[in-house]
Amino acid sequence: QTGKFTYDPGFMSTASCQSAITYIDGDKGELLYRGYPIEQLAVNADFLESCYLLLNGELPNKAEKEKFVNTVTRHTMVHEQMNFFFRGFRRDAHPMSVLVGTVGALASFYHDSLDINDPAQREISAIRLIAKLPTLVAMAYKYSVGQPFVYPRNDLSYSANFMHMMFSNPCEEYKVNDVLVRALDRILILHADHEQNASTSTVRLAGSSGANPFACIAAGIACLWGPAHGGANEAALNMLKEIGTPDKIPEFIAKVKDKNSGVKLMGFGHRVYKNFDPRAKLMRETCHEVLNELGLQNDPLFKLAMELEKIALEDDYFVSRKLYPNVDFYSGIVQSALGIPVSLFTGIFAMARTIGWIAQWNEMIADPEQKIGRPRQLYVGAARRDVPTIDKR
Ligand code: SDX
Repeated sequence: QTGKFTYDPGFMSTASCQSAITYIDGDKGELLYRGYPIEQLAVNADFLESCYLLLNGELPNKAEKEKFVNTVTRHTMVHEQMNFFFRGFRRDAHPMSVLVGTVGALASFYHDSLDINDPAQREISAIRLIAKLPTLVAMAYKYSVGQPFVYPRNDLSYSANFMHMMFSNPCEEYKVNDVLVRALDRILILHADHEQNASTSTVRLAGSSGANPFACIAAGIACLWGPAHGGANEAALNMLKEIGTPDKIPEFIAKVKDKNSGVKLMGFGHRVYKNFDPRAKLMRETCHEVLNELGLQNDPLFKLAMELEKIALEDDYFVSRKLYPNVDFYSGIVQSALGIPVSLFTGIFAMARTIGWIAQWNEMIADPEQKIGRPRQLYVGAARRDVPTIDKR
């Protein structure tokens, strides 16, 4: 019995920690941020309100929201020295490798003065990370396309500012489209936190030693990059492009069913959801809205994705294995429609998940009982034996 929730002893023994931030019921397909259903937050709140909620436990009122937004907005610039880090990367470096490097480098700007046992300093670290990730993601994009970095603006909302830093250039200012900005904001809300997923567990384990929080978030970014985790949206879109047309779906499905092929249906399946991922439904709706706004209702990839989803959901191979679309199945199509390059999809996921990582890190550091993480193993190696001298080997 933990608070209002009862778990069976077997589950309790496997839990890596206790947390009050996010609740998932994999069988019901339910996701709550601090008790609020994700499908209501995606409609009745914006991303920064969701950040405030995940960090502080309650949704902000108008005055609290205004103060939080102003503080985040005024931390969106990065130190000018950061520009030099980018010069060291190849222009074609994967944005996730750039983010691992540049977010880790932020630790060098906030190392000496940072006392993680001081709640106020933990809060400003959280604000800096929420504020600077979009700037670094946009800088990684600009560097890859050979365009100059674009500074953030204080008169734009969080998501509009990101689109500005991505798509404005010295010759032409990005024209804010509210439907597209709202869609990006919703994508960020849907990806903000997801209890103890692989990358969040990485951040918690790194943070449990008292390491610098910026370095811990860089560790989370490294873990998220994997195709089985945050890299799935990039892999799912590449899979759709590989299938090409609906008539090729049966051939692809046959390949997935052939265990020797090692081919997975990217964007399907989940370690916890054995029902629909509630985020996938919201992502499909967002997809519809964006494509309608852009007059791309007949986008071939979206039609292919819907046909693939329909076929898979009627196929016993997937149904019997409880494999349903997850958050990554549609997110690639939406992000493509927003003009975001495939290589940056996981960077957007990292931008969104930063609040989840830092809220979970903060919850752990604030716990006076917290100890350094030390997972145990089942040893299956050689029994004790003596070392022979080299002439006897
Ligand atoms: C995210 O943890 C989180 O919360 C993560 C995340 C978050 O917000 O942080 O939700 C984000 O990572 C979503 C997942 C994105 N990954 C993908 O879409 C990649 C494709 N999915 C798979 O790699 C897989 O589904 C996993 C990794 C997500 C889960 O793998 P599991 O735990 O091995 O799945 P399972 O145990 O439920 O598998 C049951 C069976 C196995 O086959 P059998 O041995 O029973 O014959 O289903 C098979 C698996 O091989 N299977 C798949 C499959 N996923 C599982 N077969 C084909 N295609 C797939 N996608």
